[in-house]
Amino acid sequence: MKTRAAVLRDVGKDFEVVELDLDEPKAGEVLVRLEASGLCHSDDHLRTGDIPVRYPIVGGHEGAGVVEAVGLGVDRIKPGDHVVGSFLPVCGKCRFCARGMTNLCDLGRFLVDNSLPDGTFRYHEGATDFGQMCLLGTFSQYAVFSEASTVKIDDDVPFDVAALVGCGVPTGFGTAVHAGEVRPGDTTVIYGVGGVGIHAVQGAAFAGARYVIAVDPVAFKRDTALKMGASHVAASAEEAQELILQLTEGVGADQALITVGVVSEEVVSAAFDAIRKRGTVVITGLNGPQHKTVHISGSLLTLFEKRIQGALFGSSAPFDDIPRLLGLYKSGKLKLDELITTRYSLDQVNQGYEDMLAGRNIRGVIIHEH
Ligand SMILES: NC(=O)c1ccc[n+]([C@@H]2O[C@H](COP(=O)([O-])OP(=O)(O)OC[C@H]3O[C@@H](n4cnc5c(N)ncnc54)[C@H](O)[C@@H]3O)[C@@H](O)[C@H]2O)c1
Ligand SMILES: [Zn+2]
Ligand SMILES: [Zn+2]
Repeated sequence: MKTRAAVLRDVGKDFEVVELDLDEPKAGEVLVRLEASGLCHSDDHLRTGDIPVRYPIVGGHEGAGVVEAVGLGVDRIKPGDHVVGSFLPVCGKCRFCARGMTNLCDLGRFLVDNSLPDGTFRYHEGATDFGQMCLLGTFSQYAVFSEASTVKIDDDVPFDVAALVGCGVPTGFGTAVHAGEVRPGDTTVIYGVGGVGIHAVQGAAFAGARYVIAVDPVAFKRDTALKMGASHVAASAEEAQELILQLTEGVGADQALITVGVVSEEVVSAAFDAIRKRGTVVITGLNGPQHKTVHISGSLLTLFEKRIQGALFGSSAPFDDIPRLLGLYKSGKLKLDELITTRYSLDQVNQGYEDMLAGRNIRGVIIHEH
């Protein structure tokens, strides 16, 4: 079948909307009619080269839609089911899955070439194979997902909200709750309040942090953070540091969570200085792998037993946390509708990223037309 999709042909090029051929689902795969797709910063890292992948590639890894067909052997999902794509596939059988660390599933190795887990591609333009960002490629009207990436959700969740729970929501929420282990009474500082960081704010508030300090240079982001559970905001790391020392009587924050768009040495150093003894810095934001962004005193790390923790998908378990977070949303305990700033058509994808980079969106979402 044919599908319209936003693709990147190389580093430094904008998204191009083209018509591609899409194969039928093979064994263990499903065909999804995508209804909505969030504009996560990570797809912009594909454009800048900060996430190294094989090109050409169909962008998008925050998507929700309806299953239209299933391949051989798929028994967990049937046509008509509403689903979210998990940006990390989960096989359930590898040693990391077996240990309950499903976000670190060995199928994650396919995120470099972005083929499906059998090593072949489903999107084509003539003889050229296109990969799928995070094995998904949700900037497309239709996609073939592996069953390992497909999470069934309740039919009554709006698609635009559901899409965000494929990446930004669990990544941010888990950065605070799982990786940061925020506990009641904690002081948590969050650097960068975009589509990921805003959920770290919600997660920290949810877990009972006494002080949630949101740091972002953009006033609109700080105002949103105050509505989503932040107790304090700061426009810079310096301003935040003063606030933290004052609020904790010189002790420091329990957690410093880094969810800025492009991680720098400055923000990591500021986060390291902001935490208390045995406090935790969680690094969720990315930068190109060639950039060494962690430059800290090893002695201070040792003497104060400080901890620096990376977090992928907020150290969440996709097949558990995606339905769990949507359950909180349905109960009115997690705010998601409020965080969709602008809706775009597929053809407006580059405008969406321009708006993200200009600080105009908490999250932009593509609404697909069929
Ligand atoms: N580890 C993971 O599993 C994972 C998953 C999804 C996204 N990410 C990464 O997380 C990062 C955030 O993604 P997003 O979609 O929320 O991006 P975004 O662009 O929506 O938000 C980034 C925010 O950081 C703010 N910011 C920039 N520099 C800052 C600074 N020095 N101090 C404080 N705030 C600053 C911006 O104003 C913006 O509000 C990206 O690097 C993305 O690739 C990681
Ligand atoms: Zn993402
Ligand atoms: Zn696995």
